[in-house]
Amino acid sequence: MKKIIGTTRVVFVGRMLVFKFPRINLREIKNLLMSEISLFFEYSKRDGFKKHLSSHIKKKLELSKHLKTSAKEKNLSRGLRVLPHRRYEFVALNVEMFGGFMANWNEFIFFVKTRNKFLLPTYFSFFGLINIQKRGNVLNWKDGDFFVFLQNNSKIKDQIFVDAHSFDNPQNFCLDNGKLKMIDYGSRHCRSFIMENWEQIQNNFPRPSKE
Ligand SMILES: Nc1ncnc2c1ncn2[C@@H]1O[C@H](COP(=O)(O)OP(=O)(O)OP(=O)(O)O)[C@@H](O)[C@H]1O
Ligand SMILES: [Mg+2]
Repeated sequence: MKKIIGTTRVVFVGRMLVFKFPRINLREIKNLLMSEISLFFEYSKRDGFKKHLSSHIKKKLELSKHLKTSAKEKNLSRGLRVLPHRRYEFVALNVEMFGGFMANWNEFIFFVKTRNKFLLPTYFSFFGLINIQKRGNVLNWKDGDFFVFLQNNSKIKDQIFVDAHSFDNPQNFCLDNGKLKMIDYGSRHCRSFIMENWEQIQNNFPRPSKE
C-alpha cells in the first residue's frame, strides 16, 4: 500500500480503496503552541497583561466579523455562495490540530448529502478519524494547464478563486471509468464552484489523450 502525505491528511492508497487519516504532527503543534504563548507574553510584557488580553480578544472578534462581511461581498462578484472562513481553516495552530479531521468529515458529508457524480465516492467516515474512499487514477496534468481548463469551463472566470488551493492541484482530481472526478473535496469552499460548474467540466474534459 502506497503512503502519501498531504497537507492535512495521510493517505494510504490500496488497489481498490483509499484510507485517509488526519495528519497529526505533534512536534509542529508543540512549536506553534509555544510560539503563540511566547508571543502573548512578550506583548503582555510590553503593553501590560490586561490591556493586551482585551486588545487580543477585540482583534479576534473584528477578524471574524470582517471575514463574514468580505464573504458576502465576494458572493456578488462571483455569483456563488462564498463561505466565511472558520478558525480551523486558517489559523496555523488550529489547522494543524483540526484540519485533517475536518477535511475528512467535510468530504464525507458533502458526498453523502449530494451524491454528486463529479465526486469520487467516500464510502465511510468515523467522525473524520478515518475515511474510506474509492481509489482513482490521479491526473498528471501540469498545474497551470489544469487550472486554466477549469477556469475556462466555469460560468464566471473569477469563480475558481473561491477555493484556489483545491483547484490548482491536478492531483486532487482523477479519472474514474474514464470520467473526470474530484478526489479531495475536504474544503467547504470548493462546494459552490462544483455544484455550479461540474457538468460542463466533466463533459468538456478531453480524454483520453491528456490522461
Ligand atoms: N481516492 C484516491 N485515489 C487515488 N489517490 C488518492 C486518493 N485520495 C488521495 N489520493 C492521493 O493522496 C494525495 C493526498 O490526498 P488528499 O488530497 O485527499 O489529502 P490532503 O491532505 O487534503 O492533500 P492536499 O491538501 O495536500 O491537497 C492526493 O493528491 C492523491 O495523490
Ligand atoms: Mg489534496
